[in-house]
Amino acid sequence: MTADTLPIEIQQTTSPRLSEVDFTNLVFGRNISDHMFVAEYRDGQWQNLRIIPYADMALSPATAALHYGQAIFEGMKAYKNEAGEVLTFRPRDNWARFNRSAERMCMPTVPEEIFMSGLNELLRLDAGWVPSQPGSSLYIRPYMFASDAYLGVRPSDSYIFIIFTGPVGNYYANPPKVKVETEYIRAAEGGVGAAKCAGNYAASLYPTRLAQQQGYDQLIWTDARDHAFIEESGTMNVMFVIDGKLITPAVSDTILDGITRRSIVEIARHWGVPVEERRVAIKEVIDAIKEGRLEAAFGAGTAVVVSPFAVIGYEGTNYELPAIKEDSFVSRVKDFLTDIRTGKTEDVFGWTQKIQ
Ligand code: COI
Repeated sequence: MTADTLPIEIQQTTSPRLSEVDFTNLVFGRNISDHMFVAEYRDGQWQNLRIIPYADMALSPATAALHYGQAIFEGMKAYKNEAGEVLTFRPRDNWARFNRSAERMCMPTVPEEIFMSGLNELLRLDAGWVPSQPGSSLYIRPYMFASDAYLGVRPSDSYIFIIFTGPVGNYYANPPKVKVETEYIRAAEGGVGAAKCAGNYAASLYPTRLAQQQGYDQLIWTDARDHAFIEESGTMNVMFVIDGKLITPAVSDTILDGITRRSIVEIARHWGVPVEERRVAIKEVIDAIKEGRLEAAFGAGTAVVVSPFAVIGYEGTNYELPAIKEDSFVSRVKDFLTDIRTGKTEDVFGWTQKIQ
């Protein structure tokens, strides 16, 4: 099966909604493009590949994913270059991570041809939805869920894989205030922390709500054993610039292998900035703040891109972080990433792919 010969049936919408979207005021997750790609896994194979108008779906109330959480997803983005062409960013990395999540959750993997052809056909059809305003992009949400209508606890025999998209602006309106969480945990060794599975996000909601009631926007998770080492944040990996070095927790089976994180590490190395991927103690970060050695603490992720923190709260004390200067590593890496993604600068890494 090759991308060119994949049978994808395309049904175009008869009620396009593009003209209803206010592209000057894009809120993350609110607008969804006209079409979606759908594939079904049944009888041991992927079948019924189609692009259809985005619409509600009928599901059995016994659908396995709704009960036992056998569901995974990805977050990716597409951008427009100055010529109006659509560029995706490192889509193969998302496909590979999706399949790692699938394996951990006992789900079938999605062949590269299906993932890429579905994505490319969808973006070709909904190219008009890719925004070109600075700071905006087309968010892409591939996901898969167990679709057996069966209540026994076992891996489903059938699955649905969907990709839909929607234009987005900034995830956070302002630099987030983050609280270091030392009571609840996101993931423990041997668990599913490295998988992008739905349950990880559900489990984060209650501790995040408690932090929000205390005036924070998001959490920084710590390790399950000692609450002494930094893991990741709610929707992003966490990175620090301390003593001129880029320092970030090494990925592990409790930390998501973020593609934005990986890109920033590769850019830093390319620029000759010292990088340390290792365990990062919260004490080390707090000491660096107190001693004026911390230049920045920031989140990195597809949705948030590069998002400097305004405040880190730890054990009841709020530490205000320095304002980000225009010539700082954080500003430069954010601009460089944006310029690569939008085709403004040469993509020396070969990360972008043009939708033909
Ligand atoms: C992404 O950055 O794409 C994510 O998956 C985070 C999302 C939960 C908002």
